[in-house]
Amino acid sequence: MCGIVGAVSTRNIVPVLVQGLQRLEYRGYDSCGVAVNGLTEQLGQAAGLQRARSTARVAELAEQVDADHGGLQGLTGIAHTRWATHGAPAVHNAHPHFSHGPQATGSSPRIALVHNGIIENHDELRQQLSAKGYVFTSQTDTEVMVHLIDSLYQGDVLQAVMQAVQQLHGAYAIAVIAKDEPQRVVGARAGSPLIMGLGESENFLASDAMALAGVTDQIVYLAEGDVVDLGLRHCQVYDVSQQAVTRAVQTVKAQSMAADLGPYQHYMQKEIFEQPRAIADTLEGVAGIVPELFDPAGQNGVAADVFAQVDTVLILACGTSYYSGCVAKYWLESLARIPCQVEVASEYRYRDSVPDPRTLVVTITQSGETADTLAALRHAQGLGMHHTLTICNVATSAMVRECKLAYITRAGVEIGVASTKAFTTQLAGLFLLTLALAKSKHRLSPQDEAQHLKAMRHLPLALQSVLALEPLLIAWAQDFADKENALFLGRGMHYPIALEGALKLKEISYIHAEAYPAGELKHGPLALVTSAMPVVTVAPNDTLLEKLKSNLQEVRARGGVLYVLADADTRIQSGEGLHVIRMPEHYGALSPLLHVVPLQLLAYHTACARGTDVDKPRNLAKSVTVE
Ligand code: M6R
Repeated sequence: MCGIVGAVSTRNIVPVLVQGLQRLEYRGYDSCGVAVNGLTEQLGQAAGLQRARSTARVAELAEQVDADHGGLQGLTGIAHTRWATHGAPAVHNAHPHFSHGPQATGSSPRIALVHNGIIENHDELRQQLSAKGYVFTSQTDTEVMVHLIDSLYQGDVLQAVMQAVQQLHGAYAIAVIAKDEPQRVVGARAGSPLIMGLGESENFLASDAMALAGVTDQIVYLAEGDVVDLGLRHCQVYDVSQQAVTRAVQTVKAQSMAADLGPYQHYMQKEIFEQPRAIADTLEGVAGIVPELFDPAGQNGVAADVFAQVDTVLILACGTSYYSGCVAKYWLESLARIPCQVEVASEYRYRDSVPDPRTLVVTITQSGETADTLAALRHAQGLGMHHTLTICNVATSAMVRECKLAYITRAGVEIGVASTKAFTTQLAGLFLLTLALAKSKHRLSPQDEAQHLKAMRHLPLALQSVLALEPLLIAWAQDFADKENALFLGRGMHYPIALEGALKLKEISYIHAEAYPAGELKHGPLALVTSAMPVVTVAPNDTLLEKLKSNLQEVRARGGVLYVLADADTRIQSGEGLHVIRMPEHYGALSPLLHVVPLQLLAYHTACARGTDVDKPRNLAKSVTVE
């Protein structure tokens, strides 16, 4: 999704801006650009606003702006990676956008702006600004903002931005520079994340602290509605009522995105293999099940009070995070005996639901910035549900800030667009939550607690042995590489694992994949089964195994080719049209966390065999910060 970097400095800032964009590349984008308040060759003389934009990779933009080859130089600048929402991916739609003032397309630009988010009233503003003589050169919603700010500009870009934001409806994080104010960058945010980075005689703006890795670790997370004025030696934040405020500075050791791939071909592969470490880190320090595990802020007794007061759970999430919630529903209802509802965030936020204040609202999100999940949380809060908890991988994210309680997973930075280690660490956090709620309701005996904790501590080792199955999955992937459709089956808590397996395959290999509860097969999807449709089945040795075996017979009888992930102790044997990979052990309640790994590997190696861009699949973004 879109990324922003901005800077005001005493050095040529273009390399910092471009490196910042490179660190944000993992989020997914289709075009990029940079604008500076330029310098002539004799550093120090203003040359006005200049920009370079590209629909290729940031590396191509870096070549365009390379100062050694007559590119851009400037002490102040803004840069952007764009993920198209309004207007096709094209250079004229790429940010930064310029305003030359009304009736002045030929003259030099006066204002430059980059934007993340969506402006909902852009049509109306476009009409008003066109009537004033502003000429639009893009199909973006963003361009209305740069002209709006220009129309309000009277020599003070902060004032112009403050007035402009009053007229905007929608979500935005923006960074703005003005030709006549060469040592100033102004930012604003509402609904989209924006942070400020503080340096020595230089200051920065970015959509993500990651962009500033290696530049500064002094980070200010701007609040909803904030406007910020950055100079060389000052940065002043104004809150939503436009009063000057002080926001806390945090030291954030953002890991460099130049992360070494090591022996791996792609970040996705690396992240799949990091799962034993990610789970170990996520469970580090968990000596027993106590409510405080879910209160990283250390608020005295708050978590225990919340757990005592709730009697149902509502899980809200998107994509892979939603599927981890679907697994948790099985755990919460069977182990903690707590009714649980799981809902896709973008659906929940817009439907009439019946709020219950005794509900624990659990959001699940890797990034903590997913617009739909944040909006769903706020919707639930607006309905009077204030017992909120997030399972999140980014401790400094908006989601963690806005929820009362949190469990911070320690997957580490996930770069591959297809989520892998975030999913399994979410499951670890959700299992702990299940145990904590069960204990709070006196439904967890000390023996069971000890048993479950032992099983959790065994997870890193268990994951290692599942990862050792990789060569078998590479062989399966060869069969899948020329297929256009695949079916995934699972039952009970492994049905969401089938859903996740299908999502992984479609995201990165572009093979159309669907998942069904195996019992549903005969109610429709069986009609699709032919020898050209591989059927992947998750077959743990649980109470549904015998039923599942009947479902497999139904597929075989129609000539379908089965790929079965069986537990060590199931007696399913490979044979004609039946390929079996045996999991090293039987994992009990934690089985979903292990069974998903071969499905990740299958998707990964199928995508490699098809030659797709595994880490940056087409049309997708890592962090979906627009609706
Ligand atoms: O950051 P989040 O966990 O909130 O993201 C939710 C989804 O956008 C994300 O899981 C998406 O479905 C992934 N691409 C799946 O691999």
